Amino acid sequence: MTKAIAFTAFGDADVLRPTDIEVPAPGPGQVRLAVRAAGVNPLDFKIRSGWMTEVFPVRLPHVPGLEASGTVEAVGEGVTGLAVGDEVFGPVNGAYAEQLVAGADRLAVKPASLSWEEAAALPVAGETAWRALELLNLTAGETLLIHGAAGGVGTLAVQFAVARGARVIGTASEAGHEYLRSLGAIPVTYGEGLAERVRALTDGRVDAVLDASGRDVLGVSVELAGGPERVVTIADAPGAPAHQVRFSGGGPGEDRTADALANALALHAAGSLRLRIHRTYPLGDAAEAHRASEHGHLTGKIVLTVA
Ligand SMILES: NC(=O)c1ccc[n+]([C@@H]2O[C@H](COP(=O)([O-])OP(=O)(O)OC[C@H]3O[C@@H](n4cnc5c(N)ncnc54)[C@H](OP(=O)(O)O)[C@@H]3O)[C@@H](O)[C@H]2O)c1
Repeated sequence: MTKAIAFTAFGDADVLRPTDIEVPAPGPGQVRLAVRAAGVNPLDFKIRSGWMTEVFPVRLPHVPGLEASGTVEAVGEGVTGLAVGDEVFGPVNGAYAEQLVAGADRLAVKPASLSWEEAAALPVAGETAWRALELLNLTAGETLLIHGAAGGVGTLAVQFAVARGARVIGTASEAGHEYLRSLGAIPVTYGEGLAERVRALTDGRVDAVLDASGRDVLGVSVELAGGPERVVTIADAPGAPAHQVRFSGGGPGEDRTADALANALALHAAGSLRLRIHRTYPLGDAAEAHRASEHGHLTGKIVLTVA
C-alpha cells in the first residue's frame, strides 16, 4: 500500500482526501516509481470538479496527477534503458501518490542539474507547448502571440518559440511582465484594447497565435492573424468551432512528449531553460494547491512535493 490523495466524488477541492492505495508490481514495459514531485495542472481540478466526465472519464476513487518525477524502484519485463535507482520524469497517471506504476517508454532520465520540482513541472506543459508550435508551423523570424504566456504552458511555449528564432508577444497581467521579459517575450496586458496594443508592437498583424488562456480571445486572435489558419487554442474547445480555429487536446496520435522533453532538455543543457515554480505544496496539501490552480493567476507551475 502507498499513500495517495484521491477523491471518491466530484466536487470542490475539499473532496481531495489522503488515502491508502495498492500499487501493483510493474507489468511488461512498466516501471514503479518512488515519486518525489508531482506537477499540478488545471486539468486536474477540471476533472475533479466533474466538468470533464465526457472527455476525460475517470473511475472513482480517482488519484489525480498527470506528471511526476521520481526514482525507479522496480522494473517490469522487457524494459530496456531504465534500471532501479534511475532518476526519471515524465507523463504518468495517478501522480498524487508516494508510488506509482508508469510506462517506461514515456519517461526521460532526469539530469542532476534539474530539480525534482522542475522535472515534475515539465512534461504536460512542455508537450502541450511543443505540440502547439508544431501545429502552428512556427519558423524563425515570425511573430507569435501567446495568450496566457506566464502560465505553465505559456512559459514553455515562449521559450520554445524564442529558441526557434521567433519574436514572441505574450499576454499576462502586469505582475507577470518582468517574468515574460526574462523569458525573451514582449509582454502586453490582456483585456479591452488588446488588439491595438499588439498592433502597436507589430506591422499591424501577427503570423500565428497560441491561445493558452481560454478566455474568449479567439475573435481577436483571428483578426490579428488575418484568418483562423494559424491560430491554435489548447484551452477553448467550446469556442473554437465558431471561429473555425483548431483546438488541440493532445488525444491519441497527437502526443509529442518525446520531442518536447528532448528539446526542453537540450535547452536546459545549454543553460537557457527557465522553469519557474509558482509554489510548492506538500502532497497532503493538494486541496490547497488546487485552490491556487483554480485562482488561475500563476507565474510558472504549482508542484506537489513528496517526502
Ligand atoms: N489542450 C491541451 O492539451 C492542454 C494541455 C495543458 C493545458 N491545457 C489548458 O490550457 C490552459 C493553460 O494551462 P496552464 O497549465 O498554462 O495554466 P496556468 O498555469 O494556470 O496558467 C494560466 C495563465 O492564464 C493567465 N490568465 C488568467 N486570466 C487571463 C485572462 N483573462 N486573459 C489571459 N490570460 C489570463 C494567467 O496569467 P496572469 O497571472 O497574468 O493573469 C496564467 O498565467 C488551461 O485552461 C489548461 O486546462 C490544455
